[in-house]
Amino acid sequence: MKHKKTAVIGDPIDHSLSPKIHNHWIEREGVDSDTYQKINVKKENFDEDVGRLIEEGYSGLNVTVPLKEDAYKYCHKTSVVAGTLKAVNTLIVNEDGVYGENTDPAGFQKSIVNRNLGSKQCLVLGAGGSARAVVFALKQMRCEIGIFNRTREKVELLCDDLGVEATILTESSLNEFVGSSSLVVNTTSLGQQKNEANNLINFNNLKPSTHVYDLIYNPSKTTFLQRAEKNGCTVQNGLEMLINQAAQSFNLWHNKIPAIDKDLMLALGVK
Ligand code: ATR
Repeated sequence: MKHKKTAVIGDPIDHSLSPKIHNHWIEREGVDSDTYQKINVKKENFDEDVGRLIEEGYSGLNVTVPLKEDAYKYCHKTSVVAGTLKAVNTLIVNEDGVYGENTDPAGFQKSIVNRNLGSKQCLVLGAGGSARAVVFALKQMRCEIGIFNRTREKVELLCDDLGVEATILTESSLNEFVGSSSLVVNTTSLGQQKNEANNLINFNNLKPSTHVYDLIYNPSKTTFLQRAEKNGCTVQNGLEMLINQAAQSFNLWHNKIPAIDKDLMLALGVK
């Protein structure tokens, strides 16, 4: 039998951490797999390139920005989560065709599982693809959700698509909501550039008991998290979500839940 072939596809893909994570597990968990690859696929070539990869024997693909919607359209069958989000981050190729899953919501939920946030008030900043995954997870956790985005129409669309009843916040209603939230999650790309400010909220309104989460993991502590920490808040970056969504994909392909432990953090260069 041939070794399993897996990879992540996206554009750009050079800086993806997924190969480090998966290759650590491939070695540690003793699964029968080739080295996990990263492959640049341009949006306009999606069908052609993915078709070729499948012909080459790839049976597991992670899909990242900007290809998750293309991957959704490509699948013969999808999970309920992927179907609701209309976005796929994990392709599984078998004799029945191509199956699409989205492990991002579960990755997010697992990353905050110990924080006791069920049914609490949570604020989401942004309404793009990542916000959809976060809102999906918070809905599962029965949280009371508020969403703020520069472009309000995208929040309305998100709520309609996901069947979520959330408070759609405006610049004037946002900061009162900040003050009564147990969780604030930044899903916007603000802060991705080193020292780039994210001043969407008034940090003085944050309660010290609020957990502040930024999905950005590089830089590892955005100015958004630094400001929140100054207010006494606990903070978290997006690395645990990345690792947990990867673990779910790994399990789908190799039927094994991989260890998330100190060795993995060492392999990723995280103390
Ligand atoms: P992802 O897949 O990472 O979620 P995305 O779908 O492109 O990426 O979403 C990016 C999010 O960052 C959006 O909510 C976007 O706001 P708009 O919907 O108004 O575009 C938000 N965003 C990006 N740059 C921003 C900026 N300068 N100020 C405020 N929000 C910004």
